Amino acid sequence: MLEKIKETAHFIHQVIQEQPDFAIVLGSGLGALKNEVQPLQVMDYKDIPNFPQTTVVGHGGQLIYGLLEGKKVLLMSGRFHYYEGHSMETVTFPFRVFKLLGIQNLILSNASGGVNKNFKVGDVMLIKDHINLMPEHPLRGKNIDELGPRFVDMSEPYHKKMLAIAEEYAIQAGIPYHVGVYLALQGPTFETPAEYGMVKAMGADAVGMSTVPEVIVAKHQGMDCFGISVITDLGGPDISYAVSHDEVLQAANKAMPHVIRIVKGLVKNYSN
Ligand code: HPA
Repeated sequence: MLEKIKETAHFIHQVIQEQPDFAIVLGSGLGALKNEVQPLQVMDYKDIPNFPQTTVVGHGGQLIYGLLEGKKVLLMSGRFHYYEGHSMETVTFPFRVFKLLGIQNLILSNASGGVNKNFKVGDVMLIKDHINLMPEHPLRGKNIDELGPRFVDMSEPYHKKMLAIAEEYAIQAGIPYHVGVYLALQGPTFETPAEYGMVKAMGADAVGMSTVPEVIVAKHQGMDCFGISVITDLGGPDISYAVSHDEVLQAANKAMPHVIRIVKGLVKNYSN
């Protein structure tokens, strides 16, 4: 695996010739963020050696290198989900490559179902912590010591300083937001009312099908993570209305201006 990661990183490095400051992952329905980036290089996943291919509508399939607020960013438009049938190794492969490219800061966005009674559809939640209920762990198996340690500290999964800067910016700019815990399930079914109830009882505020494996692999390699969720539907033991992928995409689109502003504010104001 290490050889493949090196080969892919080498290819991307040859194309972009620079070390990006941030990698940014665009979640379901959040693709419009790419219009904010001044593109310098665009790579289709299919043209990148060893890169996996996406299968979901609403997820593109491009790595875009460019400038956002004057910072060098590598945008991942289209991520890989476990429910697509990919192994965890495949789901997290790009993040292994990002580390080899020298990227320290990761910004992850996603669409999620809200279980906190204060949340509304279209709200934005900054992720302060997560609960991993994916059925397979991305670090299971022989550890590759060159990449990170066997046992990984997870006391600060989401970087406190990035979160503080995003919050400070959102307050100043008058952008409403919540801070909460994201719980990851494999999907692809949305949750039953009882399952949303379980998510809530476990101490989470939102539930989704991504992000957590990516953060785990990033932390394995000592990277710093910031996560932002758009609440695209609401669930709970007493709520039973149908959720569709179209509604998820629509709600994510609606919240897009807030997500864009917060991500831009963070990129502009944060440096390590
Ligand atoms: N559950 C899981 N994943 C999701 C949801 C949800 O309610 N909404 C968007 N992604």
